[in-house]
This record gives sequence, structure tokens and C-alpha cells, in this order.
Amino acid sequence: MQKAVKISDRVFWVGAVDWSLRYFHGYSTNFGTTYNAYLVLADKITLVDTVKKGFENEMMSRIKSVIDPSKIAYIVSNHSEPDHTGSLPETFLAVSPEKVFASQAGTKTLKNFFPSLDVQAVQDGESLDIGGARLSFYTTPMLHWPDSMATLLNPDKILFSQDAFGMHLASSERFDDELPKEVLVKRSAEYYANIITPYGKKVSETLERLVSLEFSCVAPDHGPVWRDMTCFSEILSLYSKWSKLEKKKKAVIVYETMWKSTEIMAKHFEDGLRQSGIHTAVVNMQSGNRSDLASELLESSALLAGSPTINNNAFPSLFDCLSYAKGLKFGVPYGAVFGSYGWSGEGTGQLKAYLESMSINVIAEIKAQYRPDEGTLEKCFEAGINIGQKINEGLG
Ligand code: FEO
Repeated sequence: MQKAVKISDRVFWVGAVDWSLRYFHGYSTNFGTTYNAYLVLADKITLVDTVKKGFENEMMSRIKSVIDPSKIAYIVSNHSEPDHTGSLPETFLAVSPEKVFASQAGTKTLKNFFPSLDVQAVQDGESLDIGGARLSFYTTPMLHWPDSMATLLNPDKILFSQDAFGMHLASSERFDDELPKEVLVKRSAEYYANIITPYGKKVSETLERLVSLEFSCVAPDHGPVWRDMTCFSEILSLYSKWSKLEKKKKAVIVYETMWKSTEIMAKHFEDGLRQSGIHTAVVNMQSGNRSDLASELLESSALLAGSPTINNNAFPSLFDCLSYAKGLKFGVPYGAVFGSYGWSGEGTGQLKAYLESMSINVIAEIKAQYRPDEGTLEKCFEAGINIGQKINEGLG
């Protein structure tokens, strides 16, 4: 039998660890993930969220390590995305709860996924007495779906925040204070960049609301439980910065290369940016992926995209990662495009048009036939300096 992990006298983690997950709707999850579910012991025993389909036995086993699952009276679904509700039908059958609760929008989405499931809507700000404890519901639209809500358990002061403040990280540790701070920040940033970035305005509104609540523990649906509130306040302040798309003196160069001509151009742009004091991340799409680019773009002030021309087009990998980045709406102010070609040379123009469709001010377009000569490489270097100066002027 797999064991539950005690969060407080009344609350147990009964989720599942997915060590194998490497792909989450377009996001390369190189460190796996967890699907967190929480058991709340009260007169009306309540299960907060469930797990992805295929992990229901693990969840049920952990529940059984604490109680007989048939004693669960209520299920609260904070977020209807299938990584948290995929096992809801099986759980419903195994448990036969008196009621399943979700937000108003959540009831509609759950109806869509599971037409025969009877779900009761709770209103924003509504509280539910579960006998010896109280659950209060707060809608958090677009963090991560329109149906999302957070549930506050009192008197324990535990906030079940669903996707918010989560991270895709499989680990044997269940709490933030058992993991290195750098890991928590890195994985939180990666998660925010790939999942939450487009909803910054909503995130700001939600954060204002959530911080007004009194809690001493935050239990998200992915990754560790936050019980070190000093550490959590740092994540909260990062969320605030990220939601406002605050920038750093940072640029990202993404490229693919055929015979190293585009690559040597990328390296000269990088040298120029360095000369201007700009930290630069470089993503080669032959070894990197769209999520690597997204993670690096979170606080970046410039995006430089390079590709050779192949059969009258830029490389497909560039369109892949740029379309992903466009949807995430990073608000990158400056850009440049570059690349080699043999005879037609459409690649850089296509990249320029794409960056402009992302409202990026493309400062340089540099292309080279077959192999860039010293003069062309010098132009890449100078363009790097120029972009760096604009970043410095913009950030003061
Ligand atoms: Fe973890 Fe939006 O689902």
C-alpha cells in the first residue's frame, strides 16, 4: 500500500508522482510532475482534487492508508483540466460521495468532460461547513482555466491553490523546505513561463485577492507544498513581477543551423550583446525545444531568431518555437533576425514578419550567402551591441 503524507493533523497528501512525464500539452516537462490530491479529515471527509487518469490506483492506495475511501463525503474539484479530474469518474464510483463541488464555470466544464457526473456549483466567496472545519472558495479565473478556483481550509489556514504556485517536478520530497531554493525558483519560473504567462492581468488581480487571505500553508496541484512562508513570499513576489512582464538585461538567441554559418552569426550577436552587458541565453533548436525558449523568454528584453533558408523557407523548428512563444505573449520589445542561404534567401524575411506579428521591434536583419564573411560577422556583432544599448536605455 502506498502511503499518504501528513500535511497537518487534518490534511494528508494523497496524490501521485509521475516520474515519466516529458510532455504536457506542448510543454517539455523534463523533470516529470506530481498530481496532488488532498484528503481533509472532518465530519464530512473531503477530497480536494483528484489525479490524472491512470494514477487513480496510486491515489486510492494513499487514501486507504488513512481511511476507508467510502467514508469520503465530498469531493472538491478546484480545476477541471484532466490532469486533476481524469480519474474523477473512477473516484466517484469507488467513493460514492454525497456531493462533488466545483466553481460555476467548473460545473459546466466537468459536465462537458463527464456528462453523467452530478456536480454542485459553489459561488465565489462561499463557505462550506464540513463539521469541525470550513472550506471557503475563491474563483481564480484563467489561473489556469476559466473554471479555476482556490479553496481555503480553516482553522488550518491551508490554501489549496490548484495550478497556481505549482511546478512540474517529480520528487520524493513533498515540501518546499526539503528542496533547494534554486530548484524551486527555476521550476516555478519554467512553469509560469510555459503555462501562465498569457494571463498576467488576471494573475495580478487574483494575487491581490489571495494575499488578502490568511494562510500559513499553500498546497498546489503540482510540485511541493509551500509551508515555509518566507520562501513562499519570494515566489509570490516573483509571480507579481512575472505577471507584469517585468524585464531584465537579458536576451535570447534561438536558431537552427545547416552547415554552421547561421551558428557563427549567432555567436557574433552573442558577443555584441555581452559587450553591452546583456546576459544572453542561446537555444539551438537542434538540441533545445520550444519550452526551453519559453522559459528563457520570461524576463527577456530581446529575441533574436536565426535560420538558414531551406526550400524557400526558414527551418520548421523556428516556426514551431516562435508560434508557441507568440501564444504565450511575453511582450518582448526588441528583436533581430539572421541566417544563411544558398540561392533564394527567404528565411530571414519570414522570421522578421513573424517577430513583427509578435509586436517585436526588429532592429536588424542580416543574411549571408553560403558562408558569412568577416564584414557580415562584424555586422552581427555591432547589431548585438546596438540591441544591448537599446535594452540598457529602456531599463535605465
Ligand atoms: Fe494542472 Fe491546468 O492543469
